[in-house]
Amino acid sequence: MKPSQIQTVLSEHYGLDAVRQEVLGGESDHNVRIVTADGEEFLLKATKGSTEDVVLRWQTDVLAHLAERVPQVPVSRLVPARSGDSLVAYGPYVVRLLTWLPGTLFAEVPHHPPALLTELGQVAGRLTLALADLPVRDGITSHHWDVRRARDAIETGLPFVTNENDRGNVARVLSWFDRCAGEFGELPAGVVHHDINDFNVLAEPGDGGEWRLSGVLDVGDALHTIRVAEVAIAVAYAMLRKEDPLAAAVAVVAGFHSVVPLTESELAVIFPLAAARLCVNATTWTRRTAEAEDGYGRARMRHTWPAVARIVRIHPALAEAAFRAACGFSRPESPRPRADSAVVSGPLTEIDLTPASDLYDGLDWTEPHAVARATGARGFSRHLSASLLAAEPRSGAAETVQLGIRLFLPEGEPLRAPLAAKVERTGEQLVLRHQDFWSIWWGVDSPLGTGERAEPGAILGKAGADVQVQVVTAPAFVAEPPPRHVRPADVPLWTILSPDPAALLGAAPAGSARRDVHDIVSVRRSRFARSQRAYYRRPMNLVRGRGVWLYDEDGFGYLDAINNVTHVGHAEPRVSAAAARQLAKLNTNSRFVYEGIAAYAERLCATLPDPLEVAFLVCTGSEANDLALRIARQVTGRTDVLVLDGAYHGNTTAVTGISPNRYKGPGGTGAPPTTHEVVRPDRYRGPYGYDDPDAGARYAADVAAVVAGLDSPPAAFIAESLMGTAGTIMLPDGYLPAAFSAVRAAGGLCISDEVQVGVGRLGSAFWGFETHGVVPDIVTMGKPLGNGHPIAAVVTTREIADAFDTGMKYFNTFGGNPVSCAIGQTVLDIVQGDGLQEHAADVGAYFLRTLHELRERHAVVGDVRGQGLYLGIELVRDGREPATAEAMAVAEAMKDRGVIVYPTGVHDNVLKIKPPMVFDREHVTRFAETLDAVLLSLR
Ligand SMILES: Cc1ncc(COP(=O)(O)O)c(C=O)c1O
Repeated sequence: MKPSQIQTVLSEHYGLDAVRQEVLGGESDHNVRIVTADGEEFLLKATKGSTEDVVLRWQTDVLAHLAERVPQVPVSRLVPARSGDSLVAYGPYVVRLLTWLPGTLFAEVPHHPPALLTELGQVAGRLTLALADLPVRDGITSHHWDVRRARDAIETGLPFVTNENDRGNVARVLSWFDRCAGEFGELPAGVVHHDINDFNVLAEPGDGGEWRLSGVLDVGDALHTIRVAEVAIAVAYAMLRKEDPLAAAVAVVAGFHSVVPLTESELAVIFPLAAARLCVNATTWTRRTAEAEDGYGRARMRHTWPAVARIVRIHPALAEAAFRAACGFSRPESPRPRADSAVVSGPLTEIDLTPASDLYDGLDWTEPHAVARATGARGFSRHLSASLLAAEPRSGAAETVQLGIRLFLPEGEPLRAPLAAKVERTGEQLVLRHQDFWSIWWGVDSPLGTGERAEPGAILGKAGADVQVQVVTAPAFVAEPPPRHVRPADVPLWTILSPDPAALLGAAPAGSARRDVHDIVSVRRSRFARSQRAYYRRPMNLVRGRGVWLYDEDGFGYLDAINNVTHVGHAEPRVSAAAARQLAKLNTNSRFVYEGIAAYAERLCATLPDPLEVAFLVCTGSEANDLALRIARQVTGRTDVLVLDGAYHGNTTAVTGISPNRYKGPGGTGAPPTTHEVVRPDRYRGPYGYDDPDAGARYAADVAAVVAGLDSPPAAFIAESLMGTAGTIMLPDGYLPAAFSAVRAAGGLCISDEVQVGVGRLGSAFWGFETHGVVPDIVTMGKPLGNGHPIAAVVTTREIADAFDTGMKYFNTFGGNPVSCAIGQTVLDIVQGDGLQEHAADVGAYFLRTLHELRERHAVVGDVRGQGLYLGIELVRDGREPATAEAMAVAEAMKDRGVIVYPTGVHDNVLKIKPPMVFDREHVTRFAETLDAVLLSLR
């Protein structure tokens, strides 16, 4: 209908004058939002047909019934025309006017918290209750979207689906559907809305910001059918765009059940019906868009195919168990597997496949058969334990827990039936029926055929390369076996569905004494001071690292973007081997004479320019800075020190006093009288920006001014070459040379703190100060030197070192011990031998470019900066206000998606990026994609 025709209908039949018309999408109706001069809003529906059309009259019945029965449920109401009827004939159209409901389409609500999904289920339940006794008009029997006819609907669309994966997924859903279709006649029936989809539901944020349901639209599909159709359809669309579709489904079912108690038979069909409904949606709109380009159709199915792909991975029996648990149904009695005869001859020992297992130390477990070769044993791994062999980046979908027991046996070894059995399935899995449960055998080459019987001790077949045995209690697993690995979150449900096969296999697991994350956190609380904070509100229990990846107890992998200490990669095998070799030979203190210390001191000093040639080997960066401060004060005979505002230099009493990041931060008591701050040369927030070519000189002028203002000249100026904890602050060109000159002119020493950024990280130079063309008097270094082993150092000139020798001994119990020196040597060998500095330059430049692209797309990204593999992403809101809470939320969400990054900076709003130097371009891509998704989800 044209706008002018709409205007005519409105004024003639409703006495309304539209000042605005907005055409909305719709499957068959022409839907228009109307705004009148008084600011009233309506939904106008124009449908081709006659006012006697039974479908339109039926919709009128449904709306009137709902208005009467559940006035509190926000469903649009029909507005009668002047004639009193609510259907108006206009040319070939029937026009209806409905009240306008406020809110955002459910599909466009940024995230659906469990409470909102539960409310969705409750509203669906209320509609179902209200409609239960509505008499059905003659002629209203079924339509394309009728869930009972999903197979027919899917089959008409399937020929248009060309993607083989999609076709396979639909076939699987159809097999689920077929298995439950025979039950429909037995299920409770009634009239239902039948279309609680994410374009038909509206939500609005409440006073506290939490989203509440604000409307249900479109009764066009209302039907007398199985009552469970209502909740199945709501579940279907609630699963769209969800990383954990089952959790969303559970919330909706629980809500519905709280209003309309569901029967056990209904619970069993919800998931197959919901999946079938999504397949109807996907295939129907694929067909319709193929037949005629249809933007509405594309929008309707955009998220459906990906959701179907995710949903087919969920076993319907698992979904049913989840719904039963959510609705308070009792768990079925679990049979206890036992064996009348041994499956294999000889004992089996337990092989620990969990991520913490010693088995993987020094082993590339991703190499096929590496574990089997390494154990060489006949063994078994424990049921429902996380396996590093199944490790995946953390996500709601990652399946890292082994379901059942894996057997490690020589290939070809015969396996025998533990109990009397009937073969119910052969092929990829051998499925045996026992008296009160089934056993499922993967990787067994069996001569048995379906229907055959096997007595205890009879040969089942020969072991293949990868044998796994499961026990299940539900017949649903015969038609479709369970997965070999499951999500850690589903372990409680699988415990019900799949008992431990250990007794069946004669494989007795030893007790397990490992602490879990809750235990560890609680001990940290009781045994540590609160000031020793842990990362993350919901931390993970890390049990292993390798390269750029960290792994937790559940087998979730985390891409590590912040550990610059493990410079050459987590658990680098060459470093571990060097440490183990030296630890097995000799470890003592540096007052004894041994070769390693000479070799390391020479090697370390060779990385520095003249005249930096004398080393003190210590254990931490704090200790290094503490010593540097002591040297500077003693050598100059002065006490005052200049520091950059925002800097952090360590945790001893002395260096806390030169760390504005601490003494000005929470709990800080201010600067000691001998500490003098200079302006942080921050070109994003400071007075001189990126566009000022003289920013370096201007910020350095402040150093000169502070020096000039001192009562007595300074002992030292200390600065990082790129400020780390202050928030990845890049010192502008010319800053350090001018600052050093001003300090030296006053007789002070210049200290470069390379603890964070040294050892090739900045890419263009081995040490950060070299990127500024200066040579300091004292250099301090730490974190990366030992790849996690505590090695730190102070390197200075012969002249300064000699002046420090007043006769007082300097002794460090651990600094420079033989093990540290062996590790330090190996780290330098790897950095230089593997070209990691050049790698940092290359990957870092790519990383920075990638982050700049991301910045274009997200207003919350205020600035990206850095050099080599030391980068920062500054998050802001409303211009440049620091987005501190958002930065923490991003870090938490990134962690939940398997990427570790954390806020730092003066305002804790800069995401620091300083990964192990083996971070590659593919890791950059993963990081950027995850950050992009997280920033979108938090909008
Ligand atoms: C620049 C800088 N200097 C010194 C330190 C202190 O090093 P450590 O923690 O090894 O004592 C740190 C630690 O983060 C640092 O960032």
